[in-house]
Amino acid sequence: MKPHLLAGLATLTALICLSQAAAGPVEEPAYPEGYRRWTHVLTGVSDARFNRYEGLHNIYANPKAIKGYKSSGAFPVGSVIVFDLFEVVDNGGATVATKRKFIDVMVKDSKRYAATGGWGYTEFLGESRTERGFTQDKAPSCHGCHEAKGGRDAVFTSFKD
Ligand code: HEC
Repeated sequence: MKPHLLAGLATLTALICLSQAAAGPVEEPAYPEGYRRWTHVLTGVSDARFNRYEGLHNIYANPKAIKGYKSSGAFPVGSVIVFDLFEVVDNGGATVATKRKFIDVMVKDSKRYAATGGWGYTEFLGESRTERGFTQDKAPSCHGCHEAKGGRDAVFTSFKD
């Protein structure tokens, strides 16, 4: 092989390596520190037909996501929405939330999560800030339902003052 062909081959190999590094695993969305002090969007209760989503959930939105809820367009970059799910018990006729099952999180970053409509999806189990229910390769299954059945910009809920 001629030297310039060899050099060309080396460059090509380097380029392929670079592009593979760029297309590496998508960065997991961070734990939404302090979300319990964000704005409460709504509360919902789901029965056993919702499988692992059975229980009581509160939804919280950070200030950017609240702007998104109040606008008619897409949610701004930096929007974070948290679905906070609890087990419930019947306490003499009162339904009481007990153990936190997990939190599901949506983070808007149009570039990083371009493959899932600009939304990163993740889940933290129980009270953990590090233990996740799944990795980013499962995010398309979250987005599949949100995109197909959700409302504007793949978000199901709406905000009322
Ligand atoms: C089969 C459909 C479906 C799938 C799959 C699904 N969701 Fe949802 N999600 C919903 C529905 C319906 C709501 C609205 C709940 C309500 O109205 O109280 C919701 C609400 C949410 C919210 C609050 C924002 C919004 O859209 O209203 C977040 C955050 C969320 N889901 C994250 C996730 C994550 C993370 C996954 C993947 C683990 C996931 N979801 C998978 C149906 C789905």
